[in-house]
Amino acid sequence: MSLKANILTKMLPKHIAIIMDGNGRWAKQKGMLRAFGHENGTKAVREVVEASAEIGIKNLTLYAFSTENWNRPKLEVQTLMKLLVSSLKKEINTLQDNNIKLSAIGNLKTLPKKVYKELHEVIESTKANNRMTLTLALSYGSREEILNTVKEISIKVKNNIISAKKIDESIINEHLYTQNLPDVDLLIRTSGEQRISNFLLWQIAYAELYFTSTLWPDFTKQHLYEAIIEYQKRERRFGKTSEQLS
Ligand code: FPP
Repeated sequence: MSLKANILTKMLPKHIAIIMDGNGRWAKQKGMLRAFGHENGTKAVREVVEASAEIGIKNLTLYAFSTENWNRPKLEVQTLMKLLVSSLKKEINTLQDNNIKLSAIGNLKTLPKKVYKELHEVIESTKANNRMTLTLALSYGSREEILNTVKEISIKVKNNIISAKKIDESIINEHLYTQNLPDVDLLIRTSGEQRISNFLLWQIAYAELYFTSTLWPDFTKQHLYEAIIEYQKRERRFGKTSEQLS
């Protein structure tokens, strides 16, 4: 039986987030430049977007560029930005044909104008799509996101728009970049690294973590199915006991 057939459609994660790691090492293993790894990383992006939509995942969030990634060599940052623009241009029709809505989270104003413009265009033209929301985390840092949230809420408290006593989890959720997304159910990180790297710290509070040694450019639909099958075997207790769940 194929892996895909082992997925229980009634128990799908509502939100999958992926830290796409290992492009550089993948290229190095082949004696190529890091840019070659990123180019091939876009093929893996296509694979997971297609596979997620096909099996009925409603929300997929990809960590494409962190606030810390700005510190990479200038040429690598430029390559990544160019790849983003070319991928957006290339994939807009696929997103439309498959009824996928594109969204972005992060400090988007720090992106080069060309990237921001292209991104904005694709977000606008896909905003009515509702099969799946694909969110790109770009110039994203979770601590920065939480900091902004604290600042925005403080201003509202100061201006008597919100009372300090009424601040609860839902108010915090409404002020995060991810305001329209449910919590992450499954977080995947490729390349063997086992850390979170400032990604969705608030939103992964109860996520199942899945680490694989596969380098991102080698990640295929089958790898995604494996991760989902593993997720479905886990007992998610949310603080309760096993007995309470059954
Ligand atoms: C991590 O590998 C990957 C990135 C920092 C960028 C991810 C970008 C893409 C997959 C391409 C463009 C994305 C989209 C959404 C079209 P790394 O460079 O840190 O690899 P290393 O740890 O082996 O050096």
